[in-house]
Amino acid sequence: MIVMEELKRDLLNPFPWYKVMRSSKPVFRDTDSGLWNVFRYYDVKRVLGNFNEFSSQFGKAFNPAGGPISESIINLDPPRHTKLRNIVSRAFTPRAVEKMEPVIRDICENLLSKHQGGRFDIVKEFTSPLPVTVIATMLGIPISDMDKFKKWSDNVVGGSQRDFAEFPSMMKEMVEYFRRMIAQRKSDPKDDLITAIINAEVDGENLTELESLGFFILLLVAGNETTTNLISNSLLCIDENHETFNELKSSPELIPQAIEEVLRFRSPVQSIYRVAKKDTLINGTMVPAGSIIVPWIGSANRDESIFSNADQFDIHRKENRHIAFGEGIHYCLGAPLARLESKVALEMLLKEYDSIKVDRSIPMIPQNSTIVYGLRELTVKVS
Ligand code: HEM
Repeated sequence: MIVMEELKRDLLNPFPWYKVMRSSKPVFRDTDSGLWNVFRYYDVKRVLGNFNEFSSQFGKAFNPAGGPISESIINLDPPRHTKLRNIVSRAFTPRAVEKMEPVIRDICENLLSKHQGGRFDIVKEFTSPLPVTVIATMLGIPISDMDKFKKWSDNVVGGSQRDFAEFPSMMKEMVEYFRRMIAQRKSDPKDDLITAIINAEVDGENLTELESLGFFILLLVAGNETTTNLISNSLLCIDENHETFNELKSSPELIPQAIEEVLRFRSPVQSIYRVAKKDTLINGTMVPAGSIIVPWIGSANRDESIFSNADQFDIHRKENRHIAFGEGIHYCLGAPLARLESKVALEMLLKEYDSIKVDRSIPMIPQNSTIVYGLRELTVKVS
């Protein structure tokens, strides 16, 4: 597969290849895989955002038996998508997210307290456990089940630690666990996300059990590795731009805009899938109905016709119209949470340490994926 071959050359630096594709083949059909790849900003935005032309309902094409994830909002079109998103977004309000700030601080403090100085893998010790612990706390997973939950999360959704042999049995265990949690919350409601989701309704309708399961698993799939990568990618960008470290340390109010620039410059989600609902012209190229299309977010966010000095990491960028969280009706539901977690994480790291340096004597190993972008390990020296 041409696309895979090109990307696998350097998964951490696909950007020069995207640049070539934007200028020479902005809408490109990979003859081996049959996938259509779209690289320019406005084309990517259109494919992501126009649900009348491009469907998200391909879950069953990849997994004919269906299952929780193919019933979840990320794989649905309107009207079902609108209905389910309304139900879950009511339970996933910005207010609920803001309430999490002290919890996130506690989790960060606890994780960092083990490292007063020295060298450690910050993915394993900090950026990976943080989002899993946050989402488990929001869902209402008891502390006693936290280790089990982390193990499932790593094995079912964690690209770096995934153990394929154990995948089906772990998935089954996790689904059974959530089933029990749903039944418990029905008889004994709590102030947590599981209760909020199963009780939320629109037009007198709740989610079905399969839809609730799909949503809980989607939160893990969509939220953990992406947030881990956003924080690790931030550390990598800061390490490459030494003045940024000092600037953010002395002016932490710049952290949110630095995070937006990381989202653009090293987008944690590089690509998404859609299916063409009808024959459609994209940038002058006819894409036939039924084609699977890959809009490359990572390329759109480096499009030089939109971002000046697109290959430059610049936390002072004036207008940053990145589409790292998608576009339109599927715009990331967890964006406020991801932004809050990464803001708190960077604030605490910069407060805790006078210096954080990536240990470049250890080879950086990227996630083995063309969809999520990040590092499996990132050894840092802190003092
Ligand atoms: C840096 C972190 C994150 C990035 C870059 C990211 C990126 C994205 C993108 C690009 C989409 C659009 C998918 C599409 O158009 O098909 C999406 C959707 C979604 N994300 Fe995130 N995400 C992040 C964190 C999170 C978190 C923390 C959560 C929840 C805990 C979350 C939950 C979701 C959900 C539920 C959807 C589906 C929304 C829908 O289909 O209506 N994400 N995310």
